[in-house]
Amino acid sequence: MVKFTVIGGNASKDLAKRIARRLKAPYVETQTKIFPDGESKITLGHISKNSIILVVQSTYPPVDTNLLQALSIISQARKISSRIYTIIPYMGYARQDKQFLSGEVVTMSVVAKMLQVAGAKKVFVVDIHSKTALNHFKIPSENISAIPELAKYFKKLKLKNSLVVSPDTGGSLRAKKFANLLNTGFITLKKSRNRNTGKVRVMSSKVDVHGKNLILVDDIISTGSSIIKATQFLKKQKCKRIFVACTHGLFVGDAERKIKKAGVSQIISTNTIPRSTSKVDISAVIADLIL
Ligand code: R5P
Repeated sequence: MVKFTVIGGNASKDLAKRIARRLKAPYVETQTKIFPDGESKITLGHISKNSIILVVQSTYPPVDTNLLQALSIISQARKISSRIYTIIPYMGYARQDKQFLSGEVVTMSVVAKMLQVAGAKKVFVVDIHSKTALNHFKIPSENISAIPELAKYFKKLKLKNSLVVSPDTGGSLRAKKFANLLNTGFITLKKSRNRNTGKVRVMSSKVDVHGKNLILVDDIISTGSSIIKATQFLKKQKCKRIFVACTHGLFVGDAERKIKKAGVSQIISTNTIPRSTSKVDISAVIADLIL
């Protein structure tokens, strides 16, 4: 039988412990000290030999710090085992998967190289922003979908007259999958984002959402602009209540408060990023895939 050891990085300790419990694997604690200049000093607990080591660390803000911590842990673990699987539940930089404007660095490609050089033999991610982002890895990589778990949560809410909404065409397939699991319909809004200012606009004209309970489904909520603009647009079309389901709740600044203020009744995210909205645990899906 394959033996696993799970190491939890500072950004993902709770999730790593849950994965370890599900795999019935030893959990190795990391101690992280941040120096006044921002440098991280990491100390790993004892790791026994002859196992596949799973390093769990999401790279949400502070993105670069959490990324460097992941690389440091991988590199240290590599001294003990050549079989290092890296689980980055939220993969930062995945939205920088191609050049949008001339001269832009495709940082996702740099991140993929760094993880490999540090010693990762395989990478697992959850609802990575795009397939293009995953394609930057030259080592085996797998994307795990949190959509079935999010849908399970919403099924329990038993919302009447519901409709799933994707805030943009890029998320259309995701919303369709979510809607199919809930046995309901879905629509897709057209969104445009100014590549220089980041400003978001909803380009759709009228949609038929009158009196419906809507579930906006997205992969990431960062500033909240996409959800807020969609909410304002849908409210004008006289929908009933608006719920939000997302995999990764970054909630930069006071995004969560602004989304609620725009009229969203409830926001549900997963524990790829630990937040007060993280009601959906994805440790079982990750453990099942690894086993
Ligand atoms: C964009 O394509 C993504 O799927 C999300 O919609 C976007 O990253 C959300 O960002 P924000 O919350 O800043 O609008």
